[in-house]
Amino acid sequence: MRVIAIDGPAGSGKSTVARALAARLGLEYLDTGAMYRSVTFAALRRGVDPSEVEQVARIVEDIELEVRTDGVTVDGVDATIEIRGPEVSRAVSIVAANPAVRAEMVRRQREWVATHDGGVLEGRDIGTVVFPDAELKVYLTADPEVRAQRRSKEVTDLDYETVAADLARRDALDQGREVSPLTEAADAFLLDTTGMDVEQIIDTIADVLGRGRIDG
Ligand code: CDP
Repeated sequence: MRVIAIDGPAGSGKSTVARALAARLGLEYLDTGAMYRSVTFAALRRGVDPSEVEQVARIVEDIELEVRTDGVTVDGVDATIEIRGPEVSRAVSIVAANPAVRAEMVRRQREWVATHDGGVLEGRDIGTVVFPDAELKVYLTADPEVRAQRRSKEVTDLDYETVAADLARRDALDQGREVSPLTEAADAFLLDTTGMDVEQIIDTIADVLGRGRIDG
């Protein structure tokens, strides 16, 4: 069973890389950030304060979560657009710092891999916590300004300053939390994607994996 872990902060190129690698390798792809965003969406929808640890913990006991490549369904509601919105982005790092939320999401991620016979997973703790024995661990970084530029191109309704501030705030929360903080695994392939385009990033990682094996 092949498992590839792609970790890094927002705007480092994780999603693009994970999708492309999955396609090349014939594996499924899982965006674990979408799972934390979905739990956050559920909390907001149920009127639960995202920082209420106990109440948020109760949500993950029975939340119906379907994270697919083409969208997300939360408790039967299509949340594909909302999970990327500013309300969810503002609250997601608080929800993701909740130990009960993490425990349940990690359990579901491992279950997903077992039922999909491997996969490419992107997130913050895949190589360090979820799959420490992954075949390949990639940790992507890029200068904060470059990451904010990439992200503000994706979201048309927010200006650069707002996006940059949200990224900086989430970086600090994700790196500073007690449970599974964002950090590179000791054996991860560290790639600074500042100044690289998508093709260069994919080719570099493909080289690491061994071209022969993944180009077929
Ligand atoms: O796409 P972007 O990089 O903006 O964020 P994301 O991957 O959708 O993740 C959103 C948030 O979920 C992150 O800021 C983390 O707080 C949390 N997250 C996490 O804690 N662990 C993961 N494996 C994935 C995401």
